[in-house]
Amino acid sequence: MDALECILSRRSVRKYTPDPVSEEDLARILEAVRFAPSWANTQCVAWIRVQDPERRQALQQTLPDGNPARRAVVEAPVLLALCARKGLAGYYKDQPATVHGDWHMFDAGIAVQTLSLAAWALGYGTVNVGLLDHRAAAEILRLPGEMDLLELVPLGRPASVPRPPERKALDAIVWREVHGDKP
Ligand SMILES: Cc1cc2nc3c(=O)[nH]c(=O)nc-3n(C[C@H](O)[C@H](O)[C@H](O)COP(=O)(O)O)c2cc1C
Repeated sequence: MDALECILSRRSVRKYTPDPVSEEDLARILEAVRFAPSWANTQCVAWIRVQDPERRQALQQTLPDGNPARRAVVEAPVLLALCARKGLAGYYKDQPATVHGDWHMFDAGIAVQTLSLAAWALGYGTVNVGLLDHRAAAEILRLPGEMDLLELVPLGRPASVPRPPERKALDAIVWREVHGDKP
């Protein structure tokens, strides 16, 4: 599959087969993530692989009942927690370099999309799980204070792939020269 096909065909997967993810494939996926770009190459993003079923269940409790990814957090063969160190991305000499402050979420977003695309290219699905009680999840994962827990990311072979949700038309998201001018 080429890069464009991978980007266009990837979907959020919330149902997984019990097939294990081989250590070799997981290593390839994580190796791809290592090459994701980051602010001044500060590489603030880190991952925790959560295997213990009890810890997985505890993490599942941090999602609200209505979150459609609840089952995936315990059922996917692999669960990764996406974390980032604060105060690195977007900082120069310990001061924020821009009005946007900490760019760690931005770097984490690039990293997780890199992970999702690398996984998809190898036949695996993922879903970003951002709606949860982040403080409770960080405690379960014993994160130090200088790090934020941002997302949980289940990963495995898709049992089903959802239809593509509708996207905005290009002329609603791309302008020419200045805001609002049609291309
Ligand atoms: C930052 C972020 C957080 C998300 N959090 C959740 C979540 O908590 N639960 C869930 O089921 N999907 C979650 N999603 C998945 C989105 O619902 C999904 O990406 C969107 O509907 C588009 O579908 P697609 O990924 O299949 O293209 C999240 C996506 C992003 C980018």
